[in-house]
Amino acid sequence: MSIQHIAIIMDGNGRWATQRKRPRTLGHQAGVKSVRKTIETTVKAGIPHLTLFAFSSENWNRPEKEVSKLMDLFLSSIQKETPELNAKGVQLNFIGDLSRFSDKLQIKMQQAAANVPENQRLMLNIAVNYGGQWDILQAAKQCCEKVIESPDLLPHLGVDEFASHLSLADQPAVDILIRTGGEHRISNFLLWQSAYAEIFFEDVLWPDFDENHFQSVVDRFLNRERRFGQTSEQVNA
Ligand code: IPE
Ligand code: IPE
Ligand code: MG
Repeated sequence: MSIQHIAIIMDGNGRWATQRKRPRTLGHQAGVKSVRKTIETTVKAGIPHLTLFAFSSENWNRPEKEVSKLMDLFLSSIQKETPELNAKGVQLNFIGDLSRFSDKLQIKMQQAAANVPENQRLMLNIAVNYGGQWDILQAAKQCCEKVIESPDLLPHLGVDEFASHLSLADQPAVDILIRTGGEHRISNFLLWQSAYAEIFFEDVLWPDFDENHFQSVVDRFLNRERRFGQTSEQVNA
């Protein structure tokens, strides 16, 4: 069973810092190290798609100071990490409503996502100001526009056509969805794209997530039976 796509809700940075009596932003900084390690592990494992939830559409509701520190951290991390990522054959792609970010950050994201000409080993999607509901709604609006123009299309509008308007349209569905930090919820992440994902809720806080946790999830995934609606007998036939 080959793994094509892992998606991660990187949660627990704030608690990691609070446990150490440090400001929450220190937890976000520590989280960047886990991001770096996880990208390396994914490349090593030969898994071609990784999607990381970095900032949700709801995270704007956090204290202004934390949001602004997060924006600074995005900017500096993109600047610092992109050359090495490109050298490793990692293609960056940002998903979410990017229009709410500063012009400076939007330009940095565009530059970082410019194509790596060859040696594409990993498609790394970073979800920022992303919400699964937003994604489905924006796809629905695009479909509505098409149907308004050509009403005959409506009866033929199927799942695949609709999905082609979503973020990650040209990428495989999520096989493994990991949430660190111990909460058992999806928090408006890839709602459509995770329709048949195997979900792993891990207690480890994101800054402590390492290669061993990654491997443990992969091992447990390989022991699960994905039935996609069929019976166990059918799957094993
Ligand atoms: C996830 O960690 C990072 C972002 C949402 C940006 P949190 O900051 O949510 O950490 P906890 O859940 O408060 O510990
Ligand atoms: C989800 O974490 C978003 C990211 C990890 C970027 P949150 O910490 O924001 O989720 P809730 O609010 O606890 O559901
Ligand atoms: Mg959290």
